[in-house]
Amino acid sequence: MIQGNRDGFGSRLGVIAAAAGSAVGLGNIWRFPYVTGENGGGAFLLVYVLFILVIGVPVMLSELALGRRSQRNALGAFKKLAPGTWWHIIGMMGIAAAFFILAFYTTVSGWTLEYLFLSIGNSFEGQSKEELNVTFEEFRNNGYLPLLWQLMFMLFTALIVYKGIKNGIEKYTKLLMPALLLIIIVLGIRAVTLPGSGAGLTFLFQPDFSKINADVVLQALGQAFFSLSIGMGALITYGSYIKSNEDLGKTAFSVTLTDTLVAVLAGVAIFPAVFAFGIEPQSGPSLVFITLPMIFQEMTGGYFFALIFFVLLVIAALTSTISVLEVVVAYVSEELNMSRRKATILSAGSISVLGILCTLSQGPMPEIHIGNRNLFDILEFASANIMLPLGGLLIVLFAGWYMKREDLYDEISNKETLKIHLIWAYYFIIRFLAPVAIALVFLNGLGFFGMFGEGDFS
Ligand code: PHE
Repeated sequence: MIQGNRDGFGSRLGVIAAAAGSAVGLGNIWRFPYVTGENGGGAFLLVYVLFILVIGVPVMLSELALGRRSQRNALGAFKKLAPGTWWHIIGMMGIAAAFFILAFYTTVSGWTLEYLFLSIGNSFEGQSKEELNVTFEEFRNNGYLPLLWQLMFMLFTALIVYKGIKNGIEKYTKLLMPALLLIIIVLGIRAVTLPGSGAGLTFLFQPDFSKINADVVLQALGQAFFSLSIGMGALITYGSYIKSNEDLGKTAFSVTLTDTLVAVLAGVAIFPAVFAFGIEPQSGPSLVFITLPMIFQEMTGGYFFALIFFVLLVIAALTSTISVLEVVVAYVSEELNMSRRKATILSAGSISVLGILCTLSQGPMPEIHIGNRNLFDILEFASANIMLPLGGLLIVLFAGWYMKREDLYDEISNKETLKIHLIWAYYFIIRFLAPVAIALVFLNGLGFFGMFGEGDFS
């Protein structure tokens, strides 16, 4: 049931902190470096940034506008704005994507808790690259420890979400985000001053266009969607809590800028060290868990920096997991008429079941797989590279073609009280450019046209 005084963000800073908190997360610090590493570095970064600017910002703005216009959750928004139509399928897919994402995301979030714990005990000291690798593998193959941390992480997430928007999500993200920014800058500076760091920066910033193929382009699109938290209704949900006098366009820009900055800084913090220590940039999901402890050992005050870094990695993850859980909780409580408390317990509990299987598939139970991808890989791939771009495609089609242009303009311009520059560009993008671009990248990545060579979907 929708009450008259719906919970919402109390301040402008709160909106930015919460939305940037959702965007900035493991996607930036854990996923971006390893996906960039696997896809050739500089050329990938270039395609990624292009997608962020051209597709990311307009999709994000559309989501925020749909949310605020409807004052509903990711599914309710479409029921309200397009009653009696099939558009609410977008919301259904968003809820499903939230399940998938949170399942594998809490696996990695659990790893961050273990590493926080290890850094408290100064356990990385004196370990070689090989030993750090063994530490990580042994932990991942342990039958219960990763599960324990994962469930603990889900519990923290649920406790904040249960408290609501103003007293939960906003309060915590406002506190945690500034600290995160500060630390990532410090780490970036330290990494580039390591001897031998130049090769890492070259890898990250010098595009080698021969590395671009259909799969790389699809991965860049998927990473852009994943990192900005777009395509599944997280920002429809947050948009519904934003006051009518906030500037949605500025919000979308600030959040995108912060997110991209943190991703690039994470790359700057990690690749120089990767090259300086002779680690493979293609080493996949374990990259940061092996590389960063190496850097810390080399630093004066490394114990302190490792500790702070893992605290902040936990925080970055947490401000994102709450936004994903909120998608489901807002849906369950509003559409299924349940108290926030019950909705939180039900949502967190059911997602945890999938999450546990996901964690097991990464370690002790590799038999949970299809083809050569385990459950973790499948959920990650399906959500980031398929569900989010597809969701984004449908969202821009909805905003650009189904919604009345005046209504959309009314929402973005705060009832024409704001002067909106470039509205024509926004409109052109959501009607033509973004749908065509997403569809092309998508179909090409799935191997339909064979542009840039074969996509690798094995
Ligand atoms: N953007 C988050 C990150 O980069 C992940 C996320 C995806 C959060 C989708 C919400 C919705 O870590």
